Amino acid sequence: MARPTLPYPPRISLGRFPTPVEPLARLRLRPGAGTVWIKRDDLSGTALSGNKIRKLEFLLADALERRCDVVLTCGGIQSNHARATAVAARRLGLDSLLLLRGEAPPIPDGNVLLDRLAGAEIVFISPEEYADRRALLAREAKRLEAEGRRPYVIPEGGSNALGAWGYVAMLEELWEQGVADPIRRLFFATGSAGTLAGLHLGKRLLDLPLRIEGVAVCDNEAYFRDRVLEICTDFVDRFGAGTIPDREEIHVIEGYRGPGYAKTYPRLLDLVRRVAGEEGLFLDPVYTGKAFLAMADRLADGTIPPEEEVGFLHTGGIFSLFAYREELYPPATPPSAGEATEPS
Ligand SMILES: Cc1ncc(COP(=O)(O)O)c(C=O)c1O
Repeated sequence: MARPTLPYPPRISLGRFPTPVEPLARLRLRPGAGTVWIKRDDLSGTALSGNKIRKLEFLLADALERRCDVVLTCGGIQSNHARATAVAARRLGLDSLLLLRGEAPPIPDGNVLLDRLAGAEIVFISPEEYADRRALLAREAKRLEAEGRRPYVIPEGGSNALGAWGYVAMLEELWEQGVADPIRRLFFATGSAGTLAGLHLGKRLLDLPLRIEGVAVCDNEAYFRDRVLEICTDFVDRFGAGTIPDREEIHVIEGYRGPGYAKTYPRLLDLVRRVAGEEGLFLDPVYTGKAFLAMADRLADGTIPPEEEVGFLHTGGIFSLFAYREELYPPATPPSAGEATEPS
């Protein structure tokens, strides 16, 4: 059956799309033979890579249409979204201002290093200040306006109704690639709920028989349900397209966050090392590692029937891996006093 033509808003090209969809080749996660397909949104570019690029194609088209000259956004210190925004803004000749939660690192690493290199202005803020991020972004935008600039504010994660189009487009792309039809579940990490909302909207717009398996890396199911409903309601109001999912249909897997957002635990670090070591596929400990672990557990314990084909959306995040080097490979315990390491 022909798919409907969707009323996409204006979009600019930032990523290398379509991203590949590949089977896991070596890693054995389940007793059965069903394929695990990886949708490689981590390959949508280099510094411009990951799930945020799909959202930014719509958000920055809007910024350009409004003739804005500086883009503001926020995130954690190793935010992939903030980095993608800074790089994309620079490519388009726009400035960027990032509010990052945390203290300025003595040596910039991972995404912060790329933010700096891309010329972003970075304001480090405390977790307490971050709780008020919407107001802080609005205040910074006002300050810039007073200086004669034209600011464009992108919410945390690029997660709003306009950004959600990015994951409607991804679903359409995945189905056009022709390998996704047997996939009945799609696993991925959910943080600010924009990808989750876009997938729910896309599933309904395209009438796909898909179970959306968002894995929480922060917060809980009730929070994600509220956020998805908020984004979907705005989407339907603003674009006159799509339908709002039922609250119960928005299902989120809890139990993989560990001690907190961006915090690790031994099973997670083992998995990150194992998937890289056996498959040559790099996951990160903040997002994709947690989502992959949730999928791997369900494949191993038979929750997913052995022959069922499964999808994993790789949302990127490789640069934050560098900030976890010591957790992945703790430095050897220093020799105790008196123990000679080298001939003297
Ligand atoms: C690598 C990666 N995966 C997943 C997510 C979660 O996406 P969303 O914020 O749309 O829930 C993010 C968001 O920052 C991310 O950087």
